[in-house]
Amino acid sequence: METQSLLSGLCTDPTIFSSFRNAKNPLFFAPSPSSSVSFSQRHKWVSYTTPHSSPQRAWSKQRLNCTNRVENVGDSISHGKDLENGVRRKKLAVFVSGGGSNFRSIHKASLQGSILGDVVVLVTNKRGCGGAEYAKDKGIPVVLFPKSKDEPDGLSPSELVSALRRFEVDFIILAGYLKLIPVELIRAYHRSIVNIHPSLLPAFGGKGYYGMKVHKAVIASGARYSGPTIHFVDEHYDTGRILAQSVVPVLANDTAEELAAKVLQEEHRLYVEVTAALCEERIIWRDDGVPLIRCKENPSHYR
Ligand code: GRF
Repeated sequence: METQSLLSGLCTDPTIFSSFRNAKNPLFFAPSPSSSVSFSQRHKWVSYTTPHSSPQRAWSKQRLNCTNRVENVGDSISHGKDLENGVRRKKLAVFVSGGGSNFRSIHKASLQGSILGDVVVLVTNKRGCGGAEYAKDKGIPVVLFPKSKDEPDGLSPSELVSALRRFEVDFIILAGYLKLIPVELIRAYHRSIVNIHPSLLPAFGGKGYYGMKVHKAVIASGARYSGPTIHFVDEHYDTGRILAQSVVPVLANDTAEELAAKVLQEEHRLYVEVTAALCEERIIWRDDGVPLIRCKENPSHYR
């Protein structure tokens, strides 16, 4: 017996949910008739159990063998549809705990066509956060993770992996998600989970370095430069392989708030650029395990 919980949202996979519209809340969705349903109108929350697990979709990602100096981590399978220059459009899960400004800029870029991918699900540990509200507003399904004493409706790690597979998620984009990512997810999405951190890692990273604490520490250290880092995710906070960075000057009179605003603006630009590269399969793994981004304009150049 498998239990799943979703906030209201649009789900296009008929094997998971069938849409249910009511006059009061046109974005309310219920599971297929074979499932037993309970939901709370007050919380706009849908919770249900399925009588049996759906057959797992075989994970179709195949990795190219690393016979050359570099390994292309993109999806090597073309499904013969939605191809742009031979590359399949990707499905993204975004994880947030807060306002979700990075999520919003990625979603907008995807709608505008600069990212060859779609945000198919939002995952959050805070059901009322700005990112979750935005997702609901845009008809993107919202999943609560993890399950906890305070949030008994949240998914367990294995349930989350199953849910993401059913959404056929290719890449997981962490955008201000404050919980540690469980090993089950890291194993299931090898080299496919990225995070953004608001400092130049490995400086000012790790457990406890989040939000304004990062910027205060940067200013207190006297560092003259800061900026966002995008990195692949491993079992620890902020230690995965660095994929991209961007530098922002720290001025003598900068407050932590001013520095945070400058870095966040740069985050929005960089995360869109990196997500576009992921979706276009332009991530290349150097022999020593360092990921590089192949330039779109000049494929023999990397950044
Ligand atoms: C960003 O500063 C990001 O670097 C960090 O969390 C913050 C999220 O901001 N991981 P937002 O929710 O995207 O506005």
